[in-house]
Amino acid sequence: MEVIASAPGKVILFGEHSVVYGEPAIAGAVNKRAVVKIKKSPTDKTILKSHDLNFEAEINSKSKKYYLKKGKPGIIRYILEALYQHHDHSPIEITLSSNIPIGSGLGSSAAVTVATLAALYKYHGKKFSRRTLADDAHNIEETVQGIASPLDTLVCTNGGLIYLSRDRRFQRLKINFHTPFVIGYTSKHGNTGKMVKDVRDLKENNPGTVALIISSMGVLTNSGKYALLNNDVNKIGELMNINHGLLDALGVSTPELSRMVYLARKKGAIGAKITGAGGGGSIIALCPDNIDTVASEIAKYEHILKTKFTPKGVYFQVKQ
Ligand code: MEV
Repeated sequence: MEVIASAPGKVILFGEHSVVYGEPAIAGAVNKRAVVKIKKSPTDKTILKSHDLNFEAEINSKSKKYYLKKGKPGIIRYILEALYQHHDHSPIEITLSSNIPIGSGLGSSAAVTVATLAALYKYHGKKFSRRTLADDAHNIEETVQGIASPLDTLVCTNGGLIYLSRDRRFQRLKINFHTPFVIGYTSKHGNTGKMVKDVRDLKENNPGTVALIISSMGVLTNSGKYALLNNDVNKIGELMNINHGLLDALGVSTPELSRMVYLARKKGAIGAKITGAGGGGSIIALCPDNIDTVASEIAKYEHILKTKFTPKGVYFQVKQ
């Protein structure tokens, strides 16, 4: 038997950082995916390999140790933790493929964790709901990273656009938002924990000012929700630009991120902002008419992906 599970990456459209202080946020699944295949190992060893990410390792899921035959670990820690918590330690072969850039704030670890868990559950014939899958995957992310946003695994599991309210309820927005966007990402990875701490320090030094910036982000996220529900693309772009300015005011932009944002706008993107924690990582630029011009301009300096939101969350296939 071979089990295949696939989960999408994500971007935060509005509300990163302010969400840490109880404000709402909107994130969406994108049409870049991690795919995990699991089958019985032909040997007595558990093998993990990825052609896309260029690594191969022999794994001991009981002791959470691995012997790397090729490549760099990184994402292995999430798979190891998933196996440790949810596998009976029998020898299996795991193949991972992914076109989500690693460590760029695009939910690569959440997608890999969700896909691995879904494949494992299916392999063991375990029944599960999307809710428990997202919760279990979030738990793994927290174990590996220390802190993790529950939004990531929720979006990667359910797909679509998800609104997280002030009272911490999740609502899947009943829309199909088809406008394409460019993701620009730098080779400099942001460190989410450090960026969250830097914002906290800035807030402690400037409580009144930073509180106003954060509450403004909350107001604009709610306006963004209505703009999405009304498919008001120009308004969404305008709000993205304001959100970027506020993120810059919180100190999370970098010269590379700002350059991508301003290049995108110059080439006709109707909105461009950092997505995720900043300090490195990614920007998103909404491009209804000119995605190729924006993408090729950013690609002169950094890496790009052309994407859309996808309603498709985790899905799987079982081959006997
Ligand atoms: C990081 O992707 C988003 C932050 O808001 C942190 C979080 O919500 O955990 C910066």
